[in-house]
Amino acid sequence: MQEALEAHDGVSKGKYTIGLGQDCMAFCSEVEDVISMSLTVVNSLLKKYNIDPKLIGRLEVGSETVIDKSKSIKTWLMQIFEKSGNTDIEGVDSSNACYGGTAALLNCVNWVESNSWDGRYGLVVCTDSAVYAEGPARPTGGAAAIAMLIGPNAPISFESKYRASHMAHVYDFYKPDLASEYPVVDGKLSQTCYLMALDSCYRQFCNKYEKIVGKQFSISDAEYFVFHSPYNKLVQKSFARLYYNDFMRNCSSIDDDAKEKLQPFSNLTGEESYQSRDLEKASQQVAKHLYDIKVQPSTLLPKQIGNMYTASLYAALASVLYNKHDSLDGQRIVMFSYGSGLTSTMFSLRLNNGQHPFSLSNIASVLGVTEKLQSRHETLPEKFIDTLKLMEHRYGAKDFETSRDTSLLPPGTFYLTHVDSMYRRFYDQK
Ligand code: ACO
Repeated sequence: MQEALEAHDGVSKGKYTIGLGQDCMAFCSEVEDVISMSLTVVNSLLKKYNIDPKLIGRLEVGSETVIDKSKSIKTWLMQIFEKSGNTDIEGVDSSNACYGGTAALLNCVNWVESNSWDGRYGLVVCTDSAVYAEGPARPTGGAAAIAMLIGPNAPISFESKYRASHMAHVYDFYKPDLASEYPVVDGKLSQTCYLMALDSCYRQFCNKYEKIVGKQFSISDAEYFVFHSPYNKLVQKSFARLYYNDFMRNCSSIDDDAKEKLQPFSNLTGEESYQSRDLEKASQQVAKHLYDIKVQPSTLLPKQIGNMYTASLYAALASVLYNKHDSLDGQRIVMFSYGSGLTSTMFSLRLNNGQHPFSLSNIASVLGVTEKLQSRHETLPEKFIDTLKLMEHRYGAKDFETSRDTSLLPPGTFYLTHVDSMYRRFYDQK
């Protein structure tokens, strides 16, 4: 619980819960890591949707959690497919901070749309453990893995023509110390880079839409906006920023009251606009009613789990599917993916109810978000910090056994048993 962490860290009450907008945070126990989590989600997806492992033709993993500098996480996942005799699976890992999952997803979607497609499914896995050194970034950690099946006639389809990216060279968050799992973070710079990338992607996205559709795009043209969520406050600021963009572009969707409140900021330079606290406040206030409708449904899992790095954006999408599955037919969701360093893409999804087992209602029921959240175990801050210390010690280490304590893991979960003297990692399934 972020509330307990505030008290433990001795920061002012509300700093993590209101200031960052986070409720809870997940972390890997000493028997789990990004490989065990990805084994669990792939196995679970194949089982719950009754997919023959032979039907997977491409498997892509997005992650920024380095366990091995050469061997991809994808190769560990091959254990699941080798058993059924399927070794003919393209794809490896993609990495660039929180963007690797999106790179993996675009690769898979492009493959299904290409001449190389052999008629089988693509599978995308996003898996990360987000841990930070002691300090203000630590409460923005999290951990999760997500698996997504890619194929034709899906209930969620890409409107690929409007896809827009912004890529640049910056040092906002990076992991140059290969002996440590922790990133080097310039927190303030990373926030500004995120918002600048958002502006740039939105501008390009709108231009592309306008060229193809012949009318202006504004936030009223999508039912939901789903953002990469390092912490919820940045998501609130991001939607307000899109609203401010629409105001500056004279979109008819901006009402007179909002125009009046944003008018004092109409002459700010781009740079000034990122630094203006007054603009931040005014735009969040005028966008609030639309935030509640178009963004809030996506915030459930990110607020409860924390930053999941590559999985964050897709956990936010899963939250919309879970919360709104019975009213999504025909609707549009705009997604914004950001990875420090930096790489970012805005893209658009169109939804339809779909056919069983891939109907939105079945996907929502398989997700079982409420039950999963309710079955979590609460850990005291002291135990969380002890675990991080143990993991610091084990990072890059060889020749150790884990406790093999699976008492907190649901049946079917994979877990790490030991790492041998050759650094080879071994997993078992509960
Ligand atoms: N009650 C309510 N709000 C509070 C309280 C309180 N008691 N105390 C502070 N706050 C508010 C602040 O006013 C501020 O709000 P604002 O952003 O609306 O101004 C907010 O809490 C954060 O507090 P700060 O003092 O500004 O920042 P802090 O030193 O805690 O650091 C930061 C926050 C920079 C986000 C840090 O957690 C960090 O570096 N995180 C990792 C980097 C990151 O996630 N970047 C995002 C993109 S890159 C990526 O995805 C990794």
